[in-house]
Amino acid sequence: MLTRRTFLQTTAATTFLAAAPAFVRGQNLNSKLQLAGIGCDGKGWSDIKEMADHPKTHHIAFCDVDLARTAKVKELQPDAPIFQDFREMLEKMGDKIDGSTVSTPDHMHARITSDLMQMGKHVYCQKPLTHNVSEARHIRKLTKDSGVITRLGNQIHSHSYYRTAAKAIQGGIIGKVKEVRSWCAATGHGKSGYIDRPNNPIAPPETANWELWVGVAPMRPYGDVKCYHPWGWRDWQDFGNGALGDFGCHIFDPVFTAIKQDQGPLDVVAGHTGMNDEVWPAQTHVKYTFPGTELTSGKTIPISWDDGGSLPSKGGSHIPGEVGLPSSGSILIGETGTMVIPHVGAPKVYFAKDAKQRDFETLEGLNHYHGWVDGCISGEQPSDGFEYGGNLTEAVLLGNIAVRYKGQKLQWDAEKMKITNHEEANAWLSREYRDGWKLKS
Ligand SMILES: NC(=O)c1ccc[n+]([C@@H]2O[C@H](COP(=O)([O-])OP(=O)(O)OC[C@H]3O[C@@H](n4cnc5c(N)ncnc54)[C@H](O)[C@@H]3O)[C@@H](O)[C@H]2O)c1
Repeated sequence: MLTRRTFLQTTAATTFLAAAPAFVRGQNLNSKLQLAGIGCDGKGWSDIKEMADHPKTHHIAFCDVDLARTAKVKELQPDAPIFQDFREMLEKMGDKIDGSTVSTPDHMHARITSDLMQMGKHVYCQKPLTHNVSEARHIRKLTKDSGVITRLGNQIHSHSYYRTAAKAIQGGIIGKVKEVRSWCAATGHGKSGYIDRPNNPIAPPETANWELWVGVAPMRPYGDVKCYHPWGWRDWQDFGNGALGDFGCHIFDPVFTAIKQDQGPLDVVAGHTGMNDEVWPAQTHVKYTFPGTELTSGKTIPISWDDGGSLPSKGGSHIPGEVGLPSSGSILIGETGTMVIPHVGAPKVYFAKDAKQRDFETLEGLNHYHGWVDGCISGEQPSDGFEYGGNLTEAVLLGNIAVRYKGQKLQWDAEKMKITNHEEANAWLSREYRDGWKLKS
């Protein structure tokens, strides 16, 4: 007899090989979507909690390298086993898991997501999707090949504000878009406060498996309680991606959705306030040229990024002089007006003097997390799967490569995945994996 369990086992094994559509799994669910949660505190807890609030989910396993960070999931689902190593969890429970959230520090996203997808599991992975461009390409390819349901953890994508902004731009509220300026108040090494590795590193807490936390990255001592784990890792180049990596996927998201930007940049150049080989700069300024789309006025469109507290110029926009900018967000300068999209706030349009003032429809917000669960059940891929999320992530990560080569404009051939005018910079498209941690191809 074909039970739910044997059916899922069969399809999990064959989905990837046969590139069968993911709905085959969901259609036959006779109970609940059986989820795992990888990374159980910080953003991981909110991802798990949101998924658990969906009436058709049931968490059957959790994984966190630090057992001190598992109290909340233990209370949520006391019967679910807790693992420290996701590989052990997948080996022991892979046949029962339908999908998983991945909410670890950035450097581990690709390896964990890749293992899950290759086993035919649906994945909701935090932003940025990966730590380097080559990993993003790998996941994008798996997305096409595996047919599993994927979603990037940029939950504001489903917020009323971002949905409204994107729809209004697509409806022509400011005409074709000529230029975009995005910015973010967060700073590169502002969060951990570290610039160099601590001189007298202490041992990791007994509850944490440091070897597993470091994972794919080069080994280094634990440091101290605020340095890397938890939270501080985002400032460090080996683990995180600075302010651009932290907020770029959020803040560029309504821009990419609005103008239907589904291609990589043509070139990118960056400036910053100073950096070393360890942490990201306190302030960066990045200028991209992207190919134009049906929603842009030219064959190319300039998109810029500022972080660390500096605001972009309002010059050339339709924003009145006395109107200030929000602390983070984007301005889209169009032929007949300018839209300001605060991060996170209601979009506002300033019309050109001779332009007709028009209203735009406010769209309701959707539950981003439940959208992924519903997709896993129905087989319908949500709007920001890993193809979209991979493209967004690549743009952000290319900005960070440009940051390493201050003032040098890097030409990007997206199809060949190559920086064509700077051989050395290509080394940053991928990384050396620690022994035993290479992505499985
Ligand atoms: N979407 C958002 O609004 C949002 C907000 C914050 C963070 N994030 C993203 O969420 C991710 C986590 O960020 P955070 O601030 O919660 O970090 P954190 O360091 O506070 O928490 C990470 C959790 O993952 C665990 N962990 C680390 N390595 C692991 C591994 N290999 N396997 C299993 N568990 C592991 C840690 O012990 C910790 O509990 C990052 O990718 C970050 O960019 C997204």
